[in-house]
Amino acid sequence: MAKAESQPRLQRKLLAWLLVPLAVLLVLDTAVAYWNSLRFANLAYDRALHEIGREIALHVKLEGTQPRLELSEAAANILLLDPEDQLFYRVTAENGASLGGDADLPAPRNGKPAAPDFYGAAVRGEPVRMMVAWMPVGPDAGPPQVLVQVAETLHKRERLTWEMVANVVLPQLLLMVMATAVVWIGVSRGLEPLKRLRRAVSDRSHLDLSPIDTHDVPGEVRPLVDEVNELMARLGRTFDFQNRFVADAAHQLKTPVSGLKAQIELALRENDLQRVRHSLAQLYISADRLSRLVRQLLSLARNEPGALDSMQLQPLDLNAHALEVSMDWVPQAIKRSIDLGFEGAEHPLTINADRDRLRELINNLIDNAIRYTHPGGRVTVQASRTGDGQCRLAISDDGPRIPVAERARIFERFHRLLGTQEDGSGLGLAIVSEIATLHGARITLEEDVDGVGNTFSVFFPLRADERPV
Ligand SMILES: Nc1ncnc2c1ncn2[C@@H]1O[C@H](COP(=O)(O)OP(=O)(O)OP(=O)(O)O)[C@@H](O)[C@H]1O
Ligand SMILES: [Mg+2]
Repeated sequence: MAKAESQPRLQRKLLAWLLVPLAVLLVLDTAVAYWNSLRFANLAYDRALHEIGREIALHVKLEGTQPRLELSEAAANILLLDPEDQLFYRVTAENGASLGGDADLPAPRNGKPAAPDFYGAAVRGEPVRMMVAWMPVGPDAGPPQVLVQVAETLHKRERLTWEMVANVVLPQLLLMVMATAVVWIGVSRGLEPLKRLRRAVSDRSHLDLSPIDTHDVPGEVRPLVDEVNELMARLGRTFDFQNRFVADAAHQLKTPVSGLKAQIELALRENDLQRVRHSLAQLYISADRLSRLVRQLLSLARNEPGALDSMQLQPLDLNAHALEVSMDWVPQAIKRSIDLGFEGAEHPLTINADRDRLRELINNLIDNAIRYTHPGGRVTVQASRTGDGQCRLAISDDGPRIPVAERARIFERFHRLLGTQEDGSGLGLAIVSEIATLHGARITLEEDVDGVGNTFSVFFPLRADERPV
């Protein structure tokens, strides 16, 4: 299969485009040349046929008023001698009586031709050219006249015709063969850079994503190679990103796993049941943290930019959904003595969203707000319409403000603020950001007007039927 694909199809196509019209032209040209040549050959030989007819007529004598043909067989043979063709003749009187000649000659197609008549006929099954003419008897042009028929087979006419055709067609055929050779060689040479390009790509290692050398690439395929190079650069960036992510993830997993091992070793050395229980409780907390980290890593992988296909978008009321998720956090908020409030919009805010992913986005933002706000603080979830075809989900707290320099970086994977005491691996906001992107939403961290706390806002496009007209 690979062999068939490696055939230079372009080359064959170009040749076909050149040769097929040329061949058609050649056939037409041959036909035209044939008819023209035949006309000229007939013109030339018809004249000779007419001359022979006149010679024969000279041998007709008058016996009183009756014409009589005085042509000996020897004289007739000399007159009708031809190296290539066989000739026939017949002379007929005005009253229809045959005066001599070949009885097999067919009767003239027109018994009274005004001028010499030339046409194709057949004698004993062989095609002939026939001349029929009224000719005077003796030197005077007046009556009586005799009807002279001379016929000749077609061999020399055909030979002359084909010689003339060959003279016209052969140079053209030669030209066609030369054109084919020139095009074949030219296209082969023209395609050589493409073949080199193909070899350069097929010889390369699957890990080599460096750009393809474009210096002798033909201009027509240059944009294609540029696009491929661009794609390779993007792939290279994705691979780098993935590699760094895998290394980071492994690093992040290593610490809790080592912690777990150390705790297990410690517990194994304990004899006191009470202490073993305590170690087990610690182990449980560590295992829980580890499982959360694994869940977050999976979530990151699930929400990669290419995950659009796995999204289950459906019309969803952001207002109701945000309220429902917020309610789940009430026990946690109470535990941390945080005043969790909800300020919804008056009307539903219908957006196209993946229910589970949207829940994860809101969960991460509320989790952060509750986690990083001091006990007794206040966290507010707001849903509102912005008036420009969008709606806004805002989660604000009155905890310590995130420094301006850190505002962009906190959305990066594994990035946490220095000195943060709370548990966490720095993945929550990266997941939020990926989910927002998948929904075509934009996320901002705003400066709070009163200078206290942080407000994370996510702007979702409203469904078309929700937008003001
Ligand atoms: N509402 C907030 N108030 C103050 N700091 C915050 C707030 N939200 C996030 N941060 C800071 O941004 C950092 C990154 O947050 P992110 O949610 O990405 O990770 P995390 O909370 O540390 O870990 P996890 O992966 O468990 O969510 C946090 O470590 C914290 O320092
Ligand atoms: Mg978090």
